[in-house]
Amino acid sequence: MIRREFLARTLSVAVASLFAREVFAQHSMHGMQGMSGMNDMDDMPGMSPSHGAGHGADTHAAHAAPGLAPDTALPAGAPLAALRKLANESSEAGVFRATLVAQPVRRQLMPGHSTSLWLYGDAAQGPIVGPLIDVREGDTVVIRFVNRLPQPSTIHWHGLPVPPDQDGNPMQPVAPGESRVYRFTLPLGSAGTYWYHPHPHMMSSEQVFRGLAGPIIVRAAGDPLAAFPERHLFFSDLKLASDASIAPNDMMDWMNGREGQFVLVNGARRPRIDVAQDERWRLWNGCNARYLGVSLGGKQTFAQIGTDGGLLDKPRDGLTELLLAPGERAEIIVRAGAQPSTAILTAAAYDRRKMTMTEGKSLPGDPAKPLADVHFMPGATASQAARVMPSTLRPIAPLLPDNDSADKAPQKSVVFTEAMDMTAMHRPGAMMSALPPGMQFLINGASFDPKRIALTSRRGEVEVWSIENRTDMDHPFHLHGTQFQVMSRQQQGSSRTAEPYLAWRDTVNVQPGETVRIATVQHDAGERMFHCHILEHEDLGMMATLKVV
Ligand code: C2O
Ligand code: CU
Ligand code: CU
Repeated sequence: MIRREFLARTLSVAVASLFAREVFAQHSMHGMQGMSGMNDMDDMPGMSPSHGAGHGADTHAAHAAPGLAPDTALPAGAPLAALRKLANESSEAGVFRATLVAQPVRRQLMPGHSTSLWLYGDAAQGPIVGPLIDVREGDTVVIRFVNRLPQPSTIHWHGLPVPPDQDGNPMQPVAPGESRVYRFTLPLGSAGTYWYHPHPHMMSSEQVFRGLAGPIIVRAAGDPLAAFPERHLFFSDLKLASDASIAPNDMMDWMNGREGQFVLVNGARRPRIDVAQDERWRLWNGCNARYLGVSLGGKQTFAQIGTDGGLLDKPRDGLTELLLAPGERAEIIVRAGAQPSTAILTAAAYDRRKMTMTEGKSLPGDPAKPLADVHFMPGATASQAARVMPSTLRPIAPLLPDNDSADKAPQKSVVFTEAMDMTAMHRPGAMMSALPPGMQFLINGASFDPKRIALTSRRGEVEVWSIENRTDMDHPFHLHGTQFQVMSRQQQGSSRTAEPYLAWRDTVNVQPGETVRIATVQHDAGERMFHCHILEHEDLGMMATLKVV
C-alpha cells in the first residue's frame, strides 16, 4: 500500500538521528557508559544503511537482540504466584476504601542484578503487578491515589462505568508528589474483569511498561459459576536491557508498539500451573502492545464464559485459541480432564502486520511464545462432584435488536490512519522532545488534542459506531465509560459478517482494511476517551475525546 511505503521510506531517513536521541536519554537518565550506548546503536538491526531488507526481522529474536538481556535471563518454572490483593481499609458494609501509591521500587528480577520498576504499592515482595482490587456490584469504591513518580499520572479504571471526572482522564493529571481521591459506585450488572493503569498524556506507555497496571474483579451476588475455583493470569510485557534496567522505547517500539523479550504471568516468566479440577480462569492482557492468542498448545479445548464486561449469555465451548488484543480480558473454563497430562499455555503465532524500517516490507508475524506450563493432575485434590458448567450464564439483551433499529440509531464514524510528517521530524530541537516527532497515528485525521472534542453523544441514546482501520497494521479500539456490543465486521470488498455471539466489551481489535460496527450507549455527561490500546500509539496521539451531553 502506498501509505505504508511512504511511512517506511521517511522513517529510514530519519531513524539514525532519532535513535541518537534515545542514547542521549540513556546518558542523562541512567548514566550509561558512552561506549556501550554507541555500540548498541551500531548493532541495532535495521538501523544502519549497511543492513539490507529482511534484517529488520532480527529485532524479533529477543535472544539475539543486542543490548537486551537474553530471553532466558529471568528464572522460569516457579508455581504461578497468587496476585497481591489490595486490602479494604473500611469496616463499613458496601464500602471499599484503600490507598494506591505509585512509586519507584527496586527488585531483583534477574539473578545478581537489581531493576528499578514503577509499581503500585511498595511491593518489596510478591508479583510485580498492581494489587488485585476485588469488589462487588453495589460497592462504593474510594481510592486515594498518591503519586510518588517523577511524572504526572492518573489512574484509569479500564472498562468500569465510573463517572467521567473519576476516570483518570489525561486532562486531569495528578502532579508528582500530589494525591487525589477517586470515588465511584459499581452498578448492578457491572460484574466482570477489569483493570487499572495510568493514563497521562504522552506518558502512559512508559508508566505501564515500568510496571504500573493491576487487575480488578467485580463480583455479582448470583454468579452461576461461583462454585468453580478461580485462577488469575495477568499478562504483562517486560523489556530488559542486558544490565537488567528497563529498556527505553526504541523506534520500532514507538512504531509497532513495544514488545519486550519477556511476557510475564503474574509478574513471572513461564510459571507452572497445576490443575487438579476444572477451573475458572480470568485472563488480562496488560501488555503495552502484544497480542495474545491464548491456547493450551493447540489441540486442547476450553470454554470461553466471559469477555471484558462479564459473562457471556452462554458458554462458547470447544475453543482451541482465543485472541486477546492489548487491553482485553476474558474468562475461560479449563478442564482438568480424566488423565494426568501437560500442556504449554501459549500465545499462538499472530501476524498483526508490523512495519519495518525497510521500504514496502512488513515484519514476519510473531512466532508462538510459551506463557506457562500447565500440569493437569485430575483428582489430586477434592472431587468436583456437582460442578457442572451451566448451558446459559446470564441474559444479554442486544442494544439494537434488529437491522431496522440499527439503521435508525445515530451513526458515528471512527477512522484510523497513519501518516508521516518530515518537517516535524527535522525541526530544530525536535529530537530532544519526549516523543519521536512526526510519526503520526490519527483518528478521523487528527492527533489527540486535550482541548478538542472529536464526537458528541447524548446520554442514554444507543448509537452505532463504525470503526474503520485504513492503516496497514492491527489497532485495538477502546472506548471509556461503558461496555459495548460488537455487531458486525467487514473486510474491505467483502460483505458484513454478523458477530456470532453477544458479549459486553470495551476493547475490540480492528484489522487493516476492516470496519467493525458496535452498538454503544453512554450514561453519564462528561468527557470520555477513545483510542488505540497499543499504548505507544495512544501516546503518539491515536486518541480522541467523546463529549457526552
Ligand atoms: Cu486501558 Cu484509555 O485505557
Ligand atoms: Cu479504558
Ligand atoms: Cu494502534
